[in-house]
Amino acid sequence: MKRKRGENILLTGTTGFVGGRLLRELSKRGLSPRCLVRSVDKFRRNFSDYPADCVFEGDLFGSDTLRKALEGVDLAYYLVHSMGGHSLFDVAQFAERDRWAARNFVRAANKAGVKRIVYLGGLGEIADNLSKHLMSRHEVADILESGLAKATIFRAANILGAGGAPFEILRYLVERLPLMVVPRWVDTRCQPIDIEDAIAYLAGCIDHPATEGGEFDIGGPDIITYREMMLIYARVRGLKRVVISLPLLTPRLSSLWISLLSPVPAGVVSPLLEGLRNEVVCRENRIRQILPLNLTPLEVSICKALVEVSRGPGRLASLQACFLTKSCIGQRERRLL
Ligand SMILES: NC(=O)c1ccc[n+]([C@@H]2O[C@H](COP(=O)([O-])OP(=O)(O)OC[C@H]3O[C@@H](n4cnc5c(N)ncnc54)[C@H](OP(=O)(O)O)[C@@H]3O)[C@@H](O)[C@H]2O)c1
Repeated sequence: MKRKRGENILLTGTTGFVGGRLLRELSKRGLSPRCLVRSVDKFRRNFSDYPADCVFEGDLFGSDTLRKALEGVDLAYYLVHSMGGHSLFDVAQFAERDRWAARNFVRAANKAGVKRIVYLGGLGEIADNLSKHLMSRHEVADILESGLAKATIFRAANILGAGGAPFEILRYLVERLPLMVVPRWVDTRCQPIDIEDAIAYLAGCIDHPATEGGEFDIGGPDIITYREMMLIYARVRGLKRVVISLPLLTPRLSSLWISLLSPVPAGVVSPLLEGLRNEVVCRENRIRQILPLNLTPLEVSICKALVEVSRGPGRLASLQACFLTKSCIGQRERRLL
């Protein structure tokens, strides 16, 4: 039987925000990678025509499915995290589950002779009393690097795009609250990156041997505080918003009301918010020499995400967003949309 181009690549996390977009990008490049998914039904909602023989149903905890999915694979993308869950116990145990899943994956990849693993983790320095989530992202990177395959580790702060947790939290907060009373983290600096730029790095690294076995920080052109990000969103949407920081407000309390306001589950909001106290800014920019990109400015990322949201069904508020967006942004940004 003739092998499809890309059949020696395995993608995990394709029912998620990053993995799903990476699959689209690789498909555009004429590749049909294998996909390991926990639910084929969920996968089919977005990829109804994807070749059935490239889809493997299973969990990263199951050795049997992993063995089958990794057979003949040279390069595997690890785009999975365990935040969320159905019970309070699940929510609290995400780091343990992520450790277990990564170890299982490395064992299976070693056995299958996988040559390369590409992982997208988080920015933030260990010396900076990292949150449990950011610590766990670093731990997964270490586990993946400990295997026989050469690991490419990308480290990113918030990735901005419609449907991704960071953008959806930002959108729901700013859209719904004229006055935002938030904890101290609102003045932490971060370096968000547009989802298309992150995907360009993830997909592009395949063709660049210089990225094998290396760690790369990826970020957009803007280094800003979360307060500035909220105000930029408000400006793009033509909304008047006031942000007040209240040091006594705990991240736990704020994650409670943010999860009530946004569609992002509390089990994801809570670890993400805990991480907002940590500065997430690139330490180095080596990737820009290897894979030069015209990085997307924050305002344009927000506009693009709003336009994408407005194309979804039944989103009246966002149609208005789209209109305001077009009238607010400049010529250069409009060309990029
Ligand atoms: N989004 C960001 O802003 C951001 C920023 C920096 C780094 N990253 C990294 O990017 C990667 C992907 O994040 P994302 O935002 O795309 O997350 P996401 O939308 O929540 O997707 C997570 C994916 O992981 C899958 N998954 C979870 N546990 C699994 C398991 N045990 N076995 C198999 N699959 C499992 C999920 O499958 P189900 O659909 O079945 O749940 C889903 O496809 C993560 O490594 C994350 O740390 C993301």
